[in-house]
Amino acid sequence: MAIGVFDSGIGGLTVFKSIADSFPEADIYYLGDTARVPYGNKSKETIIRYSVECGSYLYHNYNIDALVIACNTASSYAYDVLKKILPIPVVGVVLPGSLSAVKTTKNNKIGVIGTTATVKSGSYVNAIKNLNPQVEVFQKACPLLVPLVEEGWIEGEITEAIVKKYLDDVVDKNIDTLILGCTHYPVLKDVIKKLYPDINVVDSSDAIIDFIRETGINLKENSVRHIFITDESSSFETLKNLLVGDVKTEKIELSDLCSL
Ligand code: DGL
Repeated sequence: MAIGVFDSGIGGLTVFKSIADSFPEADIYYLGDTARVPYGNKSKETIIRYSVECGSYLYHNYNIDALVIACNTASSYAYDVLKKILPIPVVGVVLPGSLSAVKTTKNNKIGVIGTTATVKSGSYVNAIKNLNPQVEVFQKACPLLVPLVEEGWIEGEITEAIVKKYLDDVVDKNIDTLILGCTHYPVLKDVIKKLYPDINVVDSSDAIIDFIRETGINLKENSVRHIFITDESSSFETLKNLLVGDVKTEKIELSDLCSL
């Protein structure tokens, strides 16, 4: 049995790493839609269409037994649609991250940072309020953080200044827990923890593991690893080498994805 994982680009590699570390024998097929990244500033309709194409591509070509949406933006808009059209378990990142944050917070004040589209969807606010209506949620869109990670600026003065500029507002609300609501952001976790050492940082790439286990699919396979991208990207290669090492990246044609 195999797991399919997709993201708009490189961010989902943090989820790929987490799955590969937790289930070393699992067969994992990853698709990064590097030709169309970012999804985070696109419309709802476009995000759903791209996500359906990615999920369907993995399902129809690689016979995956479960699909992980390793992108908060895609999870926020396309989780219900993918769940409906694919006859396999679908796991998004919003519910696992929300559940982990609700379990962690002591003062019932949670911050959420994400792309403009994720924040606009209100997906985290809805999920958290469903789990515990008492919790106050403070959201902040941080659009510059994705290009920072893509450029490999994952530490240093400028990165710290930008993170601080976005996060001070949210931290000032007296939150004790912060959800990294974008799969690019775990790469900035050290910077965030350095700036705000007292805040609990929730990373959905960790939180998702229990949900994958709950799908009940057999994850003891042959450690097959395939990574596909829809366009060449040097930043993808750099982050891939850093996070998951020596797995070959294969380019697929966007037209193959769209023709399904
Ligand atoms: N990795 C995506 C997410 O988790 C963000 C990148 C994008 O905007 O496509 O939302």
